[in-house]
Amino acid sequence: MKINSSSIIGVVGSGAMGSGIAQVAATASHKVFVYDTNQLALDKAALNLKNNLAKLVEKQKITEEKQNQIITDIEFTGDLNTLSNCDLIIEAIIENLEVKKQLFKQLETITQPHCVLASNTSSLSITSISSACKFPEKFLGIHFFNPATIMPLVEIIPGIATSEAVTASCKALVDAWGKVTVIAKDTPGFIVNRVARPFYSEALRIYEEGIADIATIDWVMKEIGGFKMGPFELMDLIGHDVNYIVTETVWTQLYFDPRFKPALSQKRLLEAGFLGKKTNRGFYNYSNPLPEPTKNLDLGKLIFTRIIVLLINEAADTLYLKIASKEDIDLAMTKGVNYPKGLLQWADELGIANIVKELNSLRDFYEEDRYRISPMLKQKFILKQRFYN
Ligand SMILES: NC(=O)c1ccc[n+]([C@@H]2O[C@H](COP(=O)([O-])OP(=O)(O)OC[C@H]3O[C@@H](n4cnc5c(N)ncnc54)[C@H](O)[C@@H]3O)[C@@H](O)[C@H]2O)c1
Repeated sequence: MKINSSSIIGVVGSGAMGSGIAQVAATASHKVFVYDTNQLALDKAALNLKNNLAKLVEKQKITEEKQNQIITDIEFTGDLNTLSNCDLIIEAIIENLEVKKQLFKQLETITQPHCVLASNTSSLSITSISSACKFPEKFLGIHFFNPATIMPLVEIIPGIATSEAVTASCKALVDAWGKVTVIAKDTPGFIVNRVARPFYSEALRIYEEGIADIATIDWVMKEIGGFKMGPFELMDLIGHDVNYIVTETVWTQLYFDPRFKPALSQKRLLEAGFLGKKTNRGFYNYSNPLPEPTKNLDLGKLIFTRIIVLLINEAADTLYLKIASKEDIDLAMTKGVNYPKGLLQWADELGIANIVKELNSLRDFYEEDRYRISPMLKQKFILKQRFYN
C-alpha cells in the first residue's frame, strides 16, 4: 500500500463529484488521472476546472503558480489504462450497483496489486460493491459531499472485509487534504444521509397533515432552528430526483422501517417532473413570487420541536447501533450539511427528559412505529445521563 502525500490518484467519473474530488487531490499536490466514458463530460470538467481556478486566483485564494500546478497535475483521459499506475482510485460514476461492480472488476485487472479502490457512493452498500473485487480488503467507501471542493466532510466507510490499515491510511490521506473525516459503518445512508432523513420527512408530514404550509415550515427551521435553509427550499435545491431517491433507498434497505418512510407529496413532484430549482418548480414555483410564511411563534415552536426531536432520535439511534461515535455523528451533521449544532449536543441542551416526553406524546397520539424512541435515549433518560459531560 502506498497511500501517502506522493500517491498517484485516479478518479473515475468526471461529473459533479469526480471533478471536485480531482481538484481537491491536485490542490494537495497529487498527480491525478480522471477517466470518464463520455468525452463531453471530460471536456466540460476540464473547462469548469479552469474557470473555478481562475475565480480562486481572482479572489486571491490561490496563486497563479498554484493554479498552473493544479491544471498540469490533472490529466483527463478516455482510456482507463492510463490509471494503471495509480495508488488510490476513487470512483464517482452513475449510482448503479451493477455498473460500479463491473468497473471495479475491470480496475483490478489493470492496476498494480497495492492499489486501493474506493467508491464515492451515497447510497449503495460498500460491501456489496466490493463483492465484485478479488481483494475486498483494499476496497472502501470515501464519501465526499457536494460540492467536494467546499464541503469539509468526508465519510470513510470500511466494508466488512476492508483491512484496518487501508481504512487508517485513507483517513490520514483525506485528513491531509484538509478535509474533516468521520468513520461510518457500512449501513444505509452512512451517517449524514441517515440522520438527516427526519429533517425532510417530518417537515413533509407536518405539511401533509395541514399543520402549516411550506413557507411557514421553512421559516420556522431557519428562524427558530438556526438552519441555513428550510427543508422545502433545501429539497428543491438538492432536487427531488436525488432527495426522494435517497429517502426511498434508505427506507428500502432498512427493510421498510416506518421511521424512514418516504412521502407521497414528494413522490408526486418527482412524477410530474417538478424536480425543484433546476426545473424552476418543485415545492415552490419559482416563476411566481414566493409565498409568505405565517410568523406565529407558538405554531413555530410546535413545528420545530417535532422536527428536532426526530432528528435527535435518529442521531441517538445511530450511536446506539454503533454506526459512528458520538463525536463523529455531531461532526458529520455540522460539517457535511451545515447544521447549526451537533444533534447530540443539542439533545443535552434541550434536556433528554424533554425529548423523551415529546417523542412519547407523538407516539401515544399517532400510535405509529415512526415515533418509537431509540433505546439510547431511553437509557440516557433512565440513568439521568447526558451525551457529553
Ligand atoms: N451529486 C451529489 O450530491 C453526490 C454527493 C455525494 C456522492 N455522490 C455520488 O457520487 C457518484 C457520482 O455522482 P455525480 O453527482 O458526480 O454524478 P454525475 O452524473 O454528475 O457524473 C457521473 C459521471 O460518471 C460518468 N460515467 C458513468 N458511467 C461510467 C462508467 N462506467 N465509467 C466511467 N465513467 C462513467 C458519466 O459520464 C458522468 O460524467 C454517485 O455514486 C453519487 O451517488 C453524489
